[in-house]
Amino acid sequence: MANFAIMGFGTVGSGVAEVLRMNGASIAEKLGERLTLKYILDVRDLSASPYASLVVKDFALLESDPELDVVVESIGGAKVAYEFTRRALLAGKHVVTSNKELVAAHGRELLEIARDKNVNYLFEASVGGGIPVLRPLFQCLAGNQIQEIAGILNGTTNYILTRMVEGGVPFDEALREAQEKGYAEANPAADIEGLDAGRKICILSDLAWGGEVRPEAISVRGISGLSLEDVDVARTLGCRIKLLGRALRLEDGRTAAYVAPHLVPESSPLSGVDGVFNAVMIRGNAVGDVMLYGRGAGDLPTASAVMGDVLDALAHREKRRSLGWSRDAVLADLESELPMRWYIRGEGPARITGAMTAREARALAGQAAALLPVLE
Ligand code: HSE
Repeated sequence: MANFAIMGFGTVGSGVAEVLRMNGASIAEKLGERLTLKYILDVRDLSASPYASLVVKDFALLESDPELDVVVESIGGAKVAYEFTRRALLAGKHVVTSNKELVAAHGRELLEIARDKNVNYLFEASVGGGIPVLRPLFQCLAGNQIQEIAGILNGTTNYILTRMVEGGVPFDEALREAQEKGYAEANPAADIEGLDAGRKICILSDLAWGGEVRPEAISVRGISGLSLEDVDVARTLGCRIKLLGRALRLEDGRTAAYVAPHLVPESSPLSGVDGVFNAVMIRGNAVGDVMLYGRGAGDLPTASAVMGDVLDALAHREKRRSLGWSRDAVLADLESELPMRWYIRGEGPARITGAMTAREARALAGQAAALLPVLE
């Protein structure tokens, strides 16, 4: 029998318990043994929950239980979650998480501890919710040199943009809907201002090229400054506006990474990704373009990815999975080194420029009301 614990019984944590309830028999069949939820660690009063008998408040119980194999960290944030993840790994437990903030900020150190203790630290659910994207990137596409990654990486903002455009729903109402559906972060500013997508593109970049890109080192622009007028004008130009995280490998080995709303031509499959759906396009030098698509947030989709990692951790009990990043990435200067086409709306008709750097585009746009990159 294999035992696991859930730390933090919010949207994701309770989704993981529900996936086990729904699929326990098939999970046991795949695993070759029964998987038991032994503890739920949460400081809140969960006495009315059907799982009340499993609830504990003392992390030391998990840490010292020799029969506990895997800990799911769904606390969120990078404080308590960081401390408990470190301690769990040091105690020889495998740790699985959906916590992109923690992975982006401390993943390098936590992966090193996992390597030293010969346990797994797995975080498939931290990017793209239920979409399998990290494992395809570091495993299935390992034979490629990855050239570019571009993705709709935040379900909340994509849901808001879609509701505003398709349903004429005001921004605040669309945000409230996303919160009610369990898509948004505790502080939705992290979604709206692009920080959540920024953490995710950093994790993708770390795994793709093995050099750490720190979230605070990249340019991040969210959707709060977007005008609905631009959404309409974009359509007349044959494009949709999408918040994209993008990372590229330059020929000299440096990395460029950023988050910004883009005009996405309707010929790109990313343009048709609506609602809470996320999609990640990965370009490899052997495979060409691959697009992975699915629900990027929500309890059961995210729990699906978490449970996959729990099973993978248990399958790699003896020989841990090898993944990680161990050096700093060298970043290119986005302002002067990455030529792109630009959408400019100022005086006169809106237009799309030829390829030029951000600095050149800004000089050309002057006092224009809108300046957005166009995805090639
Ligand atoms: N707030 C995130 C989103 C949750 O909306 O995509 C999943 O990471």
